[in-house]
Amino acid sequence: MQIVHIADTTKLNTTVARYIFDRIKSNLHQNRPFTLGLATGSTPLGIYRELVPLLGASGLDLSGFYTFNLDEYIGLTQHHPNSYHAEMMTNFWLPLQKLNPTFKLEHTHIPDTSTQNPDEECKTYEHAIQKNGGIDLQILGIGTNGHIAFNEPGSRGDSRTRVVSINEETRKVNADKFFAGDISKVPTHAISMGIGTILEAREIVLIALGESKREIMTRLLNLVEPTENIPASFLLQHKNTKIYTDMSNM
Ligand code: F6R
Repeated sequence: MQIVHIADTTKLNTTVARYIFDRIKSNLHQNRPFTLGLATGSTPLGIYRELVPLLGASGLDLSGFYTFNLDEYIGLTQHHPNSYHAEMMTNFWLPLQKLNPTFKLEHTHIPDTSTQNPDEECKTYEHAIQKNGGIDLQILGIGTNGHIAFNEPGSRGDSRTRVVSINEETRKVNADKFFAGDISKVPTHAISMGIGTILEAREIVLIALGESKREIMTRLLNLVEPTENIPASFLLQHKNTKIYTDMSNM
């Protein structure tokens, strides 16, 4: 894992957005598709704010550009403002389509938790990722307990897309950030890509912003081998992972 420290968060967002844009552009210029793994939550928002206009104004034909999201809550409809589907529509997919109509909404993927059969949906999602040729670059945030996607502590390193329960600490953090502090409104379950699924991405960019992530990042960076107690530590097994952080003395 390579760690890149950029103290100015705005500069960090611009740097990461530019990096992802260049990776997408390089593939598309060679007539090769590009599949971007998307995360939700507060961390990637600043990057999306930069990346969307870059892609939008690029003049690139985005018909070879695909996205797969990491996870979705169970129990919120796609139209619920706190669903990850709605979050992506608002912050990425619709603004990009408006700027560059070659971007196809049919090329976006997020687990469909409205289904009667979530286990089947997990298999379908895994299959869709494979059929699409895998993920070229996966964006990740990290939870204060070390989760990536909704792989909470105790998740196995070889886990695949599945129905997971969201633990109390994560629900509390998300309640405060997105549900006006009301934990009863935060779903208890989600469909999440597994750690094994994430590790198959050809490149991973993990972003850790702000002091609330310092403790978990310090624990993570001091590990020599992965532990289920800190799901993000399985990234130690990945050959092409960069961590971008705005925290000094990491
Ligand atoms: C969201 C996701 C989560 C978040 C994590 C950090 O799709 O997969 O793992 O990345 O909970 O959330 P924020 O960015 O809000 O601190």
